[in-house]
Formats: sequence, structure tokens, C-alpha cells
Amino acid sequence: MYSRIVGTGSYLPAKVVTNFDLAQRMDTSDAWIRERTGIERRHIIAEAESNVDMAEHAARAAIAAAGLQPSDIDLISYGTTTPDLVFPNCGCLLQARLGCRGAPAFSLEAACSGFIYALAMADKFVRAGESQRALVVGSEVLSRITDHSDRNTAILFGDGAGAVVLTPSEQPGIISTHLHADGSYQHLLYCTGGPARGPAPGNMASGDYVRMAGSEVFKLAVTLLGRIVDETLALNHLDRSAIDWLVPHQANLRIIQAVAKKLGLPMERVIVTVQEHGNTSTASVPLALDVGVRDGRIKRGDLLLLEALGGGVTWGSALLRY
Ligand code: UT7
Repeated sequence: MYSRIVGTGSYLPAKVVTNFDLAQRMDTSDAWIRERTGIERRHIIAEAESNVDMAEHAARAAIAAAGLQPSDIDLISYGTTTPDLVFPNCGCLLQARLGCRGAPAFSLEAACSGFIYALAMADKFVRAGESQRALVVGSEVLSRITDHSDRNTAILFGDGAGAVVLTPSEQPGIISTHLHADGSYQHLLYCTGGPARGPAPGNMASGDYVRMAGSEVFKLAVTLLGRIVDETLALNHLDRSAIDWLVPHQANLRIIQAVAKKLGLPMERVIVTVQEHGNTSTASVPLALDVGVRDGRIKRGDLLLLEALGGGVTWGSALLRY
């Protein structure tokens, strides 16, 4: 028994902030941001909008694409690092809106790898026969934990949400998932505070911010994502030429290009959204997947490799036949 993606959906807030907008506020330029990251613009959440608001749009779109009703969902696996509340978890908040009462609903936090982790969890429930219609969400409001005066991070992040629905299938489907973490790298990419520790000294009133040693994370990402590509192919006895589409985490175009090169894939076989979305953390992989599916590039039967690395550090991949 496998699980298979039967619907995808995504949502981006209406407000767009371009590199030129940022260059008016801080010491940066469109040329620097584009050359170093590939980012041109990003979507930023409205003041009255929340993480779960975005997730609900993405989830309803994925459920409709699957030909199901929201009340059909029997499991919610929700990846996020920027929840509306500490609790109830975002999965429960979403479940109440969708009306699938009683379905287990949890959120998990693995920073930018959160969607791969959430997908792997849901896949295991479906394979075990414990879920027939699982909803997997990645939704993130990184703009609310970004220090908008820090040009090292403020230029990178955007907000958004993506979702998929999984159902059981005798044919793959999700072929394998690979999850890793190494907490000894926690100092390279982290949020300065949390409910158990409170805000970091010197921060603004409620300000817990993302801090990143960018070039160290960059090098680590290229190394560890390269390694997980090898691991995924070797475990499945596959040659890299078998992959039809790379659907990567959208942190930096240069990291994406390095992984594509490792796979011997031309960039035409890579779903790239970083120029439009910036880095939406947990949301970036399902957003890219939905873009590729809806514009018709990704077709039924194609072999997809999804991968991501984020704070923790955490990293992971999923090999699947769409
Ligand atoms: O999603 C989770 C995983 N995250 C990632 O994978 C992100 C990984 N890291 C990166 O994408 C890149 O490291 C960054 C885009 C964050 C930075 O690019 P970089 O090529 O590694 O630049 P750098 O941090 O080494 O900085 C180079 C120079 C520095 O100036 P000096 O010291 O050489 O004079 C920075 O101060 O660029 C300067 N700089 C900027 N200049 C203009 C840093 N940020 C900016 C900026 N605008 N926004």
C-alpha cells in the first residue's frame, strides 16, 4: 500500500513587496538580491490575516482538486514554524473550519523542511491504513518573525501556504521519504526567543526574530541536499536520469542550481518559484508543486524529487510518482 497525491492547492497573500520597495527602506539593491538569491518579489500577509487563514485557502483548493469535500478529511498533518497560537495547534484550528470533526490534527515544526516532515508523517498514516484522506499543509508567516531592519534576512522571506491531499493507492504514489536533523547546527539558523524562554534581551517588546549565518547555511545546504539526493536515488536503485522534476525548497536560486547540477537536470526540469515567492519556508515546496501541477508541467506518472533544508538543521526528501 502506498499513499498518492490526489490534489494540490496553494495560497499567496495579495500584497507584493519588490526588491525595489526594500531598497527604499534599507541598504540593499535589486541587483544584489537578484544576483545572490534569485528573488525578485515576495508576498506579505495582510495585518488582519493569519497563518490558518492562508492554510484554509490552500487546503480548500487541494481538497477541491481531489474531488473531495472538506468534511471527508480524516487526518491533518500541518507543518509550520509560525503558528497562530501556541495551542490549540494550527491543525485543530484548521480542522474546525473544514468541519472534519474528530479527525486527528497536529502541527509539527521543522522550519523550512516542515512540509517534507509533515508529508512523511501523513504518508505513514495512510500506508498503515489509519487514514484514507489525509490533508498535508505547509503554511508560514515568516514576515512576522523577520527583523525588517536586518538586510541579511529581511530580503529573503515571503508568506504563503500550500497543501496536498493523500489517499491510499496500490501503485506509488510516494515511493520513499528521507528525514534528517542535526541539532549541533542550531546556532546557524534560529529564532531568538520562544514561549518557554521569552524574547531575547535587547529585542523589541514581543520581537523574536530569525537570525541566520547565511553563507554557512548556504554551504551546508549544498552539501546536505547533495547527499540526500544520493541517498534517495541509492535506496531506490535509481539512476539520476530517472527523475522528471525537481521540486526544491525555494531558499536561493544558487542552491537550487547546485542540486539540479548534482542530478544532471537542466533547469527546465526544475520548478522554480523563488523569484516570485521568496523563501516561504514550510510553504515553499507545496507552493512550487501546486504551481507546476496547475500550469501543466507536472503530469500524472512523472517522477518527482522534493527536497528541503531548514533551521535545526533539518533536511529531507520525498521521491514520488505524481
Ligand atoms: O530556508 C532555509 C535555508 N536558508 C538558506 O538556505 C539560505 C542560505 N544562504 C543564502 O541564501 C545566502 O547566504 C544569502 C542570500 C543569505 C547571502 O548571500 P551570500 O552570497 O552568502 O552573502 P554574504 O552573507 O556572504 O554577504 C556578502 C556581502 C557582505 O558584505 P561584505 O562583508 O562582503 O562587505 C554583506 O554585508 O553582501 C553584503 N550583504 C548585502 N548587500 C546588499 C548582505 N546582505 C545584503 C543585502 N544587500 N541584502
